[in-house]
Amino acid sequence: HEYETILVERRGRTGLITLNRPKALNALNLQVMNDVVDAARQLDRDPDIGCLVLTGSAKAFAAGADIKEMQPRGYMDMYVSDWFTAWDQFAAVRKPTVAAVSGYALGGGCELAMMCDILLAADTARFGQPEIKLGVIPGIGGSQRLTRAVGKAKAMDLCLTGRMMDAEEAERAGLVSRVVPAGELLDTAMEVAGTVAGMSAPVAMMAKESVARSFETTLTEGVRFERRLFHATFATEDQKEGMAAFVEKRDPEFRHR
Ligand code: HXC
Repeated sequence: HEYETILVERRGRTGLITLNRPKALNALNLQVMNDVVDAARQLDRDPDIGCLVLTGSAKAFAAGADIKEMQPRGYMDMYVSDWFTAWDQFAAVRKPTVAAVSGYALGGGCELAMMCDILLAADTARFGQPEIKLGVIPGIGGSQRLTRAVGKAKAMDLCLTGRMMDAEEAERAGLVSRVVPAGELLDTAMEVAGTVAGMSAPVAMMAKESVARSFETTLTEGVRFERRLFHATFATEDQKEGMAAFVEKRDPEFRHR
């Protein structure tokens, strides 16, 4: 399937989605949203895929929602169409996702990166929620996911001033898990994704689901949820294989089921 605004590749068990709208610094218009969501859902359903990587260009992961597309719209228009609701389907992908961010990740770009499970940054990455400078606020989860990721102090600072934070500050703040030299970003992302995709697919999904649940519930309920999934891992063939491999001092060969 050919898309207009993204490139999709399968490399081993990793699905790579590259935002490809260079003239607009990968600004996220409706076409990009539909393309990314469609590709991500297809990869999510594909039993040969164990992990997704989402990346942009060297200059921009994505410079935000498409301002020119939004400019003429009014409230009723945005409300009735539930503008950008399809991005929730990207956040609902069940397989692990890795964002590889180089250059600008602003507004919707930052929000999209934060929907991913593992966020890797090039040393050139710049993160921000500059919507306030346009007279709006984040609309695809920025005020919520950024606050959960970095806490109130920096989330308020970024959402109220619209300033950008560089990769080093983003790592210190806990927004990204690793910063790598720009030239190594994609290789690192593919390596990380390859590692994850090599694990048992259902168990990796459970690990993701369990960590994600911590953002939605109390500690007691979260631990109970984790315990149930932990028990469920014992229903997989991969638990048998993983533990047998350890005992037999060999590498496991997960069957991903
Ligand atoms: C539409 C955009 C765009 C955007 C860049 N472009 N960002 N078009 N929407 N978000 C276009 C520019 O208009 C320009 O097109 C081309 O991309 C190159 O951008 P330049 O500005 O010339 O590049 P540069 O000078 O290097 O500056 C880079 C930049 C700047 C700092 C990233 O482009 C910028 O500030 N962009 C907007 C960032 C932003 O406010 N994002 C938040 C959007 S609101 P032409 O045709 O002139 O060459 C948002 C809301 C989410 O995301 C929630 C919605 C519900």
